[in-house]
Formats: sequence, C-alpha cells, structure tokens
Amino acid sequence: TPPERIRNFCIIAHIDHGKSTLADRMLQITGAVADRDMRAQYLDRMDIERERGITIKSQAVRMPWEQDGHAFALNMIDTPGHVDFTYEVSRSLAACEGAILLVDAAQGIEAQTLANLYLALENDLTIIPVLNKIDLPAADPERFAKELADLIGGSPDDVLRVSGKTGEGVEELLDRLVAEIPAPKGDADAPARAMIFDSVYDAYRGVVTYVRMIDGTLSPRERIQMMSTRATHDLLEIGVSSPEPVPSKGLGVGEVGYLITGVKDVRQSKVGDTVTGARTPATQALAGYVDPKPMVYSGLYPIDASDYPDLREALDKLKLSDASLAYEPETSVALGFGFRCGFLGLLHLEIITERLEREFGLDLITTAPSVIYEVTTETNETIVVTNPSEYPDGKINGVTEPIVKASILAPKDYVGTIMDLCQTRRGTLLGMDYLSEQRVELKYTMPLGEIVFDFFDQLKSRTQGYASLDYEPAGRQEADLVKVDILLQGDRVDAFSAIVHREKAYAYGTTMTERLRKLIPRQQFEVPIQAAIGARIIARENIRAIRKDVLAKCYGGDITRKRKLLEKQKEGKKRMKMVGRVEVPQNAFIAALSGD
Ligand code: GTP
Repeated sequence: TPPERIRNFCIIAHIDHGKSTLADRMLQITGAVADRDMRAQYLDRMDIERERGITIKSQAVRMPWEQDGHAFALNMIDTPGHVDFTYEVSRSLAACEGAILLVDAAQGIEAQTLANLYLALENDLTIIPVLNKIDLPAADPERFAKELADLIGGSPDDVLRVSGKTGEGVEELLDRLVAEIPAPKGDADAPARAMIFDSVYDAYRGVVTYVRMIDGTLSPRERIQMMSTRATHDLLEIGVSSPEPVPSKGLGVGEVGYLITGVKDVRQSKVGDTVTGARTPATQALAGYVDPKPMVYSGLYPIDASDYPDLREALDKLKLSDASLAYEPETSVALGFGFRCGFLGLLHLEIITERLEREFGLDLITTAPSVIYEVTTETNETIVVTNPSEYPDGKINGVTEPIVKASILAPKDYVGTIMDLCQTRRGTLLGMDYLSEQRVELKYTMPLGEIVFDFFDQLKSRTQGYASLDYEPAGRQEADLVKVDILLQGDRVDAFSAIVHREKAYAYGTTMTERLRKLIPRQQFEVPIQAAIGARIIARENIRAIRKDVLAKCYGGDITRKRKLLEKQKEGKKRMKMVGRVEVPQNAFIAALSGD
C-alpha cells in the first residue's frame, strides 16, 4: 500500500472506557474479522488480559476502509493504558500519526487518559476526540464534550459521539480517521529503518516483533540488523496482522507489520530499537530507545521449598516474553530460597505473580514491595539497596529515594481527603487545575516508596473509587529514612525489615509486633517480639509461654485471618520455620506480610 493510502492511529483511553469494545466494533464494521469469527476483546490474547479486562501488551491490526472509491489501510496500534507501561505506550504512539482520544461519556477524562494525551501531543499526533458509551442512560455527552474541547482546543461540536456497544457513530469515526490523520511520510529509497513498538513471545513461532516502517523497505528472507546491539538475524517471515498474521511480500514506508526471525528471547528484539537491513544498514537509529528500568522490587518465595527449581524455570520462561522483568536468587532466614525481582511498577508485579501462580501452578509468598534506595556510607561509598534487609546497619552519611510527579484526578468534593492522604505520604502539592466545574487535577511530587505502599487502595477507598492516579519518575531526593527490624526472641526476621521515614518508624514497629503477636502460636517459653532501629528497641510485645491446658487454642489470630491462612495453606502441610528457638508456622509470615 502506498503511504498516501495508509493511516496509522492508536486509541488513548482510560481502563474501562471501552477501548477493546470499540476496537472489536471497528474490526467488524471494516470486515477485518468476519461476523462468525468475532468474539469479545478480539485483540486481547493473554487469558489474564481477557479475564481482568485490561490490555497488557500492545498489538497492531490492519483494517481495510474505503472512501471516495479509494481503498485505505487503517493500522490500529493498541496501547496499554496503565502507568507501569508508559514506555510501551510512548513507543506505540511514536508509531502513529494520529490518536483517538476515547472518553466514557458518563465518566469524563481520567488521569491516565490525560497522561497519555500529553504523550501523544508531545509526539505531534493529530487527536480525534471521541465520547464513547453514548447509549448509556447516565451518559452526559454535552458536559464532557465541553470538557474535552476545553482540554485540546476546538469546539464541543467536533467531539464525535459513538457507542462501541451498538456501533453507532463508528463508521463516521472511520471516515474521520481517513480525513484527518496525516498520511505517513518517509524516504522510500533510503536504507530501511523500522521502529520496534512491540515484541511478543509466541510458544510456536518464537519472538514476533511488531514494527512501523519509517524509511525504505524490508523484504522476506533478507538479513536484518538490530541497531542497538548490531546483532543480525535472518527474516523468516514478514507480514501484517489483519488481525490474523498474513505473510506479505515486504513492508514499505509507513506500513505496520510483524517480523519473525526465529529468536527465542524478546531481549534480542527490544521495544524502541531500530531494525535495518544488514546489507545496506542505515547509519542513524531512530530516536528514543531506552532500556526500561525496574522501579519496584519484591522477594518472591515458593511456599513449598521444593518448588524452587520450578519457580526459576517459570521466571526464565516469563523473561522470554517480558524484557523488563529482572530477577536474581536471594535467600531469607524466614522464607528460605527465592528470588529478588524487579518490576516496572505495582501492576507489573501483580501481573507477574498472578501469571506465576496461574500459568505455572506455583504458590508464592511476596515480600513487601521496595523501591531503590541509594545509601552513602560513612566511607562515602554508594550502596544500592533494593532489599531492606540489606540496608547497612551502622552509621550512614545519607540516603536518597526515588520521587515521582503524581497527577490525581477526582471530583472536587474529594480534594480535602486527597490532600490529607498525600500529606501523610510526604507529598508536596505542585498545583491544582479545574478541568471542569466538578473535576480537579491535583499535582504532587511524592516519594515512590509511599505510593507502592497501598497508596492507590487508600486513594480509591477515600474517593469511593472516583479518583484516578498517574505518575512519572522525577528523580531522587535525600530523605530521613531508617531501617526498622523485627526481632523474635532477639533474632532478626529478615523478611520483615522495612525502610521507612523516621517519623513512621514507630507506627510500623507497633503494627508489625502486634500483628505477629496474634499470629505466632505460644511456645514452651516466653517470646518477646521487638521492633528496633539499629540497637534501639522502639516497640515490644510478648507471647506468653504455654500452659498445658491451652494447647488447643494455640493458633491465635482472628477468625477471618485464620480462614485466609487456611486458604493459602494446602491441606495437611502445616510447615514450621525455626527462627532461633522459636517455631513459626509459615503461614504466619504470609499473613503478616500481606497485612490488612
Ligand atoms: P481496558 O482493556 O481495561 O483498558 O478496558 P477497555 O477500555 O478496553 O474497556 P472494555 O472495552 O473492556 O469495556 C469496559 C466495559 O464497558 C465493558 O463492560 C464493556 O461492555 C462496556 N462498554 C464498552 N463500550 C460500551 C458502550 O459503547 N456502551 C456501553 N453501554 N457499554 C460499553
């Protein structure tokens, strides 16, 4: 297809605003998918995506559309909506000339929509504002059309109104895409340059790499080169997804398609990298390649120690499809052998642990998430700490923590409670904008460490679910942080060490010691549970020694917690760990770490 007949676009939408449903409808209306083959959320391939209704990996699909007797190819590039995957979003946007800004007509704009809209504007994309779900009785298109128009300029009348569910307005939207989005530009005679915007591991075909051609052409069987590593591979297949893979005779300027080279590891075909021909390689890579860096670390331990080799194998397998997952072996006195894993963010952590449990049948303990601390020791060495138990014990010269710029969108009635929450999380207010009469955007800088610690849950519960959150890294800051250790009869339990702000150390200490007192059964002797900063004890509880007649009640804890423990623990496997002389049921560790 010649570039003037190609339109490349993506859909920017908040979770649940109906991106997948609209995509389904477009596939159907353009005839890309025959009605009999249609199933809901056609493009979401991972089971976990379909079940949770979230899009994790971006996908591209080509749809035919005719206008004024001309045949056009519309390439829709799907983008993940969540903050953890901002880098993938930015690559997908860079592959497009236009974006549909899709907003639920009953909800209005949310924080992630806004963040992605700004990314799209930075990439100079043409924005087509669309209100979705106009079939809903609660839809208020007048109000939100104005909100959208105020945000991106233009008149509320330019805001399209569609329903992904009924199909209303979707044909008009397809026409608008052709009319308004610029055709791709590139140099057809230059050496080939294609940007990788997604790389997916497929058990049968190896790594499938999705690219957007910028200059030149790539043909089947040619040898290609990855510009960041200079590694070369033979092209086994090249084609387009429409939406099933269809091999083609090559890809030219502006086209979007896939490459298969037989490599087995996505790290050899990284998002953001430039593909060129090995025979006449381009000299200059396309801008913007960065290695995504883990932001959040957590220890993953098998509940059953004999599952350790399986856990290693499962992580190796996941790594094939997820270049941003990092892990290395780690041991814990309390939890045994496991892995310290690095994630892009909390959702990424959740997805990986869920996949490990679901797809690989592993039962896991996850330690409290930690960010990256940089500690300057007394001798002015810098130590990078991702596991609180490795925090240096002696005197230090200083420590820095990562901070983020957070944007929170909510109805104005919740401003007070949000400010209150951000205050307790050491946030600094940067500004406040009214998007409309009812809705406000609050901007804060905040330590990432405070966000990974159940901030989102708190925000949701204080605002009845109405607030949305987005954040981006904003460097590091010095902070007055201390490590709080938890001791059982004088022995440190590594899994419970935490790095917290000095003012919160006492609260953490008392919560953990109380929790453990309820969870650990009585022993033959008295067991002190202490919280300490260095050698200084800041909180203490006692588990009294057993008297013979109370043996039956020795598993303390309230009934809901107990039930939860039982669920986690398989029948007949009541494992005990020794911490010094103290016998601790492993499920007590799990419960104490999961908190509530
Ligand atoms: P993520 O993949 O999580 O980003 O969500 P999404 O934006 O793709 O949303 P999805 O298409 O899964 O739709 C979310 C919910 O809204 C689903 O329950 C849909 O059935 C519903 N929905 C989507 N479009 C419409 C619409 O036009 N009208 C109505 N009434 N409901 C819709």
